[in-house]
Amino acid sequence: MTALLHPFARPALEDYISIVRGEGAVVWDASGKRYVDGLASLWYCNVGHGRTEVANAVARQMAQIETYHCFERFTTPAADELAERLVALAPVPGSRVFLTSGGSEAVDTALKLSRIAHAQAGQPEKTIAISRTPSYHGVSYGAMTLTGLPLNRKDFGPGVGDVVQVDKDDLEAVRAVFEAHPGQVAAVFAEPVVGAGGVWPPAPGYLQGLRALCDEHDAHLVLDEVICGFGRLGTLFAGSHFGVAADITTFAKGVTSGYIPLGGAVLAPSVHEKLSADPAFVLRHGYTYSGHSTAAAAALACLDLTEQEGLLDRAKHIGERLEPQLKALEAEGLVTEVRGVGALWGVSVPDPVGTRDRMLDLGVIVRPIAPVSLAMCPPLVITDDDLDAIPAALRAALTA
Ligand SMILES: Cc1ncc(COP(=O)(O)O)c(C=O)c1O
Repeated sequence: MTALLHPFARPALEDYISIVRGEGAVVWDASGKRYVDGLASLWYCNVGHGRTEVANAVARQMAQIETYHCFERFTTPAADELAERLVALAPVPGSRVFLTSGGSEAVDTALKLSRIAHAQAGQPEKTIAISRTPSYHGVSYGAMTLTGLPLNRKDFGPGVGDVVQVDKDDLEAVRAVFEAHPGQVAAVFAEPVVGAGGVWPPAPGYLQGLRALCDEHDAHLVLDEVICGFGRLGTLFAGSHFGVAADITTFAKGVTSGYIPLGGAVLAPSVHEKLSADPAFVLRHGYTYSGHSTAAAAALACLDLTEQEGLLDRAKHIGERLEPQLKALEAEGLVTEVRGVGALWGVSVPDPVGTRDRMLDLGVIVRPIAPVSLAMCPPLVITDDDLDAIPAALRAALTA
């Protein structure tokens, strides 16, 4: 047995590929084999692997002070600078940022802050959260309960209360929940493009419809941009791609491209003003590493690279180059469906795990996801040659 009990893996499995080095969109295993990283590790490494710019920023911060906590009455320059930069880029003017160490914490934060903001506004009965199936929001009990993948919930016991799930793209089902629980819905959670639940872009007008329903019923729209944010769809915030502004936007992954774990939630004034209205109110929520300086330094360096290297445009280019190659496989009947936006793509294939394994042999990493799909989400710095290697390996694996 391996000493490391692996996440999202068979505990009995002994056979792992040990990744030892990375450069841009390419990684190497311990035997020296080269792989095109078609999933940006786990949907996060937008600026590419092995970037000395990020390593140097992290080292500079650590040499000065690794971090200091941000609970009352402390702060740090790196946490403040990151929050100010994100607020300046956020779709809703006057937003504020809460920082976490990852996506599940960001989603739990969104649920807790939505509920407590309503309570502070005199509506403690607004506790219900609506989420969708399929969807993926993480593994902490709050995020797991919101996740719309039944297997991820199985045998973990009861989740958190007051979560109601509806099918994705079904606006009437959302409306019915609002009508069945008048004045009790706190928030609606949606990934702009469902990621680990299968790569499903929204039906036209769906996200706008959610926005209108939330406005009508004074509920918060939470866009979970843990995968879609920080350039993946060609915009810094994924809601902007669809012209929809959220009350709460959760993020993680691409914000630091994984160099240091970081996540958070951008709160529009519709949420944070309710928290600051009573000057005596204490927000009893926060993680030890909320506002971690070294993580913030990594995020600032990644934002610099995103701007300097035009990575938002690269995301669009990746989609424009990948889509016709995947559609050609669909036209030939090798894959049954192709879905995606920007640099986030999924295809339906009969045997995702076997296809993934054959592609690994060919030196390309993709990820099997529910129910019968393979996900593609490469670093935004990927070269055209390495990008073309992904559909080429898919074709070879499907015709082998
Ligand atoms: C949309 C979404 N939300 C939340 C999470 C959970 O993030 P983490 O694994 O950092 O807790 C993920 C992870 O893949 C995700 O894709």
